[in-house]
Amino acid sequence: MDNIIEIIKGDITTLKVGAIVNAANSSLMGGGGVDGAIHRAAGPQLKEYCRSLKGCQAGEAKISPSFQLKCKHIIHTVGPVWNNGTQNEEALLASAYRRSLEVAIENKIQSIAFPSISTGAYRFPFDKATLIAKNEIERFMKTNNTLQTIILVTFSESDYNQLKRIYEKPKNNYQNQ
Ligand code: APR
Repeated sequence: MDNIIEIIKGDITTLKVGAIVNAANSSLMGGGGVDGAIHRAAGPQLKEYCRSLKGCQAGEAKISPSFQLKCKHIIHTVGPVWNNGTQNEEALLASAYRRSLEVAIENKIQSIAFPSISTGAYRFPFDKATLIAKNEIERFMKTNNTLQTIILVTFSESDYNQLKRIYEKPKNNYQNQ
């Protein structure tokens, strides 16, 4: 069965999917942005559980139960802080997506929702981050079809429109004619 990529605008904490991905920090103890929203909605047990995970390096991913959320699992990943591309940020962001997808497969998850990792507090340029994510997801889909649905969740109208534009851009200029 072909994988499906969906682009939506909304609050990732409301989704009833196999796993939502949290753009966490290396402590996994919660924070602001989507991390804060997920911890608030999941409840205090999430922080207690994450304490046992003993942190997470940038580019890595770890899984937890979802507690009070509608999804089954939360996959916590840590994106890089943008530093003008001087500290391997692009590779680390690609790794955060790849490792989240691998953890999903390892846990037989069939539907996953990603926020735009690193594009908020970590200031990674949105378009660049979206292209990295798109390449990583497409590369993964070439060799994995157990993950049936991949949802990209944007939180703002402008991010939603930007994502749609990038995903709907013709693959080559022959299609423009
Ligand atoms: N649902 C979906 N997307 C959301 C939500 C939400 N409820 N809240 C925020 N976002 C979007 C933001 O608009 C942004 O596009 O998630 C994207 C990632 O932004 P951040 O949450 O700021 O994450 P990031 O840039 O990866 O920075 C991570 O911020 O919250 C802290 O603890 C976190 O230190 C870590 C850092």
